[in-house]
Amino acid sequence: MQEAGFQAINKKAVYAVFELSLPAFKRTIKKISPEILRGFNVTVPYKQTMLSYVNELTEEARFVGAVNTVFRKRNRWVGANTDVFGFMQSLKKEAGFSPGNKKNLVLGAGGAARAVVYGLSKEGAQAIFIANRTLSKAQIIAKEFSRKFSRVDFQAIEISSKSIPPFIAQADLVVNTTSLGLHETDSSPLAETLIPKASLQRKLFVDLIYHRNKTTFLANAERQGHKTLNGLGMLLWQGVKAFELWTGKAAPVKVMQKALIEQLKQNVLNQKGNKK
Ligand code: ATR
Repeated sequence: MQEAGFQAINKKAVYAVFELSLPAFKRTIKKISPEILRGFNVTVPYKQTMLSYVNELTEEARFVGAVNTVFRKRNRWVGANTDVFGFMQSLKKEAGFSPGNKKNLVLGAGGAARAVVYGLSKEGAQAIFIANRTLSKAQIIAKEFSRKFSRVDFQAIEISSKSIPPFIAQADLVVNTTSLGLHETDSSPLAETLIPKASLQRKLFVDLIYHRNKTTFLANAERQGHKTLNGLGMLLWQGVKAFELWTGKAAPVKVMQKALIEQLKQNVLNQKGNKK
């Protein structure tokens, strides 16, 4: 996706991928020279570690507590979090959803949930219900975010058949940020019986997972008549934002989208090949 974008704007650059152990990651980060590197992405599990290896943080990265993109600004390394933009842009562009005055149910309370909660809060959500298997983690996010976004109604709840019903009934948007769904055999964090029928109110269900077209979570929501969106758009738009931070140029979004879809198709074919 990034290299297709560079090519389209005639930028001579490569996007290389490295899988590093933590000691190797720390050594490499310290040695990075701005002469050869204009920027880079950091992904799981080093998004938090990266916070202390940059000269500056954007407000989003600081509050979300994670860096996924590093770029140069006035001879300094700046840590940004483009997942927030990626999620919000995908909501708007792919699903036509604008969070102003809406009620939202976010499943999960990890790093991805913080990016989603930040984006929704910043864009004027009325209420955000954070539901997690471990209630205390949801409570921490609700407390912290209430201090910054005093106009949003934050509530922390457990993902259970007892707690969910009154909150899901009110929600316009339900987002799965948990890692349940990453594997083909995974169940959904939300039992299908807890999803009200769309005839009462048609909701938008979003899963951040992108490498599978439809997780069990989305398939369940679709069966109840709701609108659904997977994480592919978020992946594209976080990359678009990173591209613009690195190059200072408008990203060729269509070219990047095409390359991304082709690569993901190729990954599926490779996986099938490996299983044989
Ligand atoms: P990420 O950065 O992708 O958000 P994370 O910080 O490790 O990853 O958070 C993972 C989230 O998925 C957590 O909310 C976790 O719930 P707990 O806080 O209770 O651990 C949630 N999660 C992971 N596996 C889960 C499962 N089997 N059922 C429900 N929630 C799960």
